[in-house]
Amino acid sequence: MSPTDEMKRAAGVAAARRVESGMVVGLGTGSTAIHAVAHLGERLKSGELRDIRGVPTSYQATVLARELKIPLVTLDEIERIDLAIDGADEVAPDLTLIKGGGAAQTREKIIAALADDFTVVVDEAKLVDRLGSRYPVPVEVLPFAEAPVARAIRRLGGEPTLRMGVKKAGPVVTDQGNLLIDVHFESIPDPARLERELKCIPGALENGIFVGMARRVLVASLVDGAPTVREVNRPQ
Ligand code: 5RP
Repeated sequence: MSPTDEMKRAAGVAAARRVESGMVVGLGTGSTAIHAVAHLGERLKSGELRDIRGVPTSYQATVLARELKIPLVTLDEIERIDLAIDGADEVAPDLTLIKGGGAAQTREKIIAALADDFTVVVDEAKLVDRLGSRYPVPVEVLPFAEAPVARAIRRLGGEPTLRMGVKKAGPVVTDQGNLLIDVHFESIPDPARLERELKCIPGALENGIFVGMARRVLVASLVDGAPTVREVNRPQ
């Protein structure tokens, strides 16, 4: 395992340890969140945890949870989620996030919004001073509306790029059958405003700016070569 993977694993495991028997748990997407799902599966298998129900944020999370025999529920069956665990692409000091590196931000935001506790797991490379400094803002878009959405994004000052598949010809298609536009902004002085403006574009679905949602971030770093996790709580 690479040092980065060690950190991701440490953060994921630390979050999965917070899960208690009987909880409804949001299962995140990406290379960090899958460690949380994997550790949940181990705890269930060993009998340390009982009566867990998972709500997956993506096809990736669904497949892994099924493999690990984590019982799944849909949003028709529950009203709230006790704890949602997910990764992020950028974390600002006020715990505003950019998400969607795995093209799953639409379901991820729905599940985070239903969670009493939305806990984010990252390695320290995800911490930024200003949102948007390294990662573009992903916007899910109806294929029918790709061109007008891209034009509207340009009018907001963003530079849109259609996300292309890897080992798949053509664009990335989301779990909902839509396309994904990654938007580079020179700066994002007001993330909440930009989140709203992007949402107001007809044909644009959810975007990857998460404001005021994360209750805490578990940040893994290497201290003397050993992965160590610290907790950063949202400023009150
Ligand atoms: C998926 C996400 C991921 O949580 C985010 O991209 C972080 O992924 P990773 O842990 O692989 O770096 O938002 O849509």
